[in-house]
Amino acid sequence: MVTDPNTNYTSPAGKDFTFAAARFAGINPSSRVLDMGCGYGEGACNLASEFRCKITACDISKENLDLARETAEKRNVSHLISLEQADLIKSDYSKNPYDLIIAEGGVLSFISRRKGLSMASSWLVPRGWLAFSDLIMLSDNVPDEIRAIFEDETYHYETESSYRNLISELGMEIHFMCLVPVSGWDNYYAHMARRLEDNKGFFSDRRIKLAFHREIDVFYRLKGFRYVGYLFCVARKRT
Ligand SMILES: C[S@@+](CC[C@H](N)C(=O)[O-])C[C@H]1O[C@@H](n2cnc3c(N)ncnc32)[C@H](O)[C@@H]1O
Repeated sequence: MVTDPNTNYTSPAGKDFTFAAARFAGINPSSRVLDMGCGYGEGACNLASEFRCKITACDISKENLDLARETAEKRNVSHLISLEQADLIKSDYSKNPYDLIIAEGGVLSFISRRKGLSMASSWLVPRGWLAFSDLIMLSDNVPDEIRAIFEDETYHYETESSYRNLISELGMEIHFMCLVPVSGWDNYYAHMARRLEDNKGFFSDRRIKLAFHREIDVFYRLKGFRYVGYLFCVARKRT
């Protein structure tokens, strides 16, 4: 069921989840938010439109930041969002810490979950909030054909239980955790299917098109949704 046909998130957890994170953190116009791996800026624009807070939105990709800038201008929130091209692994945002950090769409897995969580924690004010969404494995017995789509020698995913342990080990307490409903995946793949029509930019590459077609096929035809899930978590720094 596609519930948000116009979504511009490149991940299954969309606007509802970004809003939930901001509600937990009590975000208001005096709050400061960092969006790690902002992609097309959908999360940052939603937060700025709804809560009028100040947001630093960073991403390694200039192409994504250009699209984020266009969206922010179209939605009249560009004055609230500072877009920065940055490789998170080499960044340090600890000088002026944030009330809320969002890391949506598996960016923690891209940069290493342990490192990403511990960097985020060091960039938060005391008792600050982190909200992230990421792919997890729902079972230890994932059929090879499905596992091969999501994991390779670089990418291995957590389970809910191992993620919980990691968060706790890194000095954060979980306030809310859930799996994104199937409609979140439907919204995401509907968006991806639209992007696969692109004839310029990231999605114009034949290999990217093929990889996404395979993933969508495995997710629905081989019932990949029984084995992989999208975890959404709101955690708070202990001290
Ligand atoms: C799957 S997208 C999610 C985008 C967005 N947060 C969303 O949910 O729609 C992951 C984003 O992380 C960015 N990214 C990956 N590695 C990064 C790094 N080392 N530093 C900064 N951004 C990175 C990618 O360019 C991409 O835009």
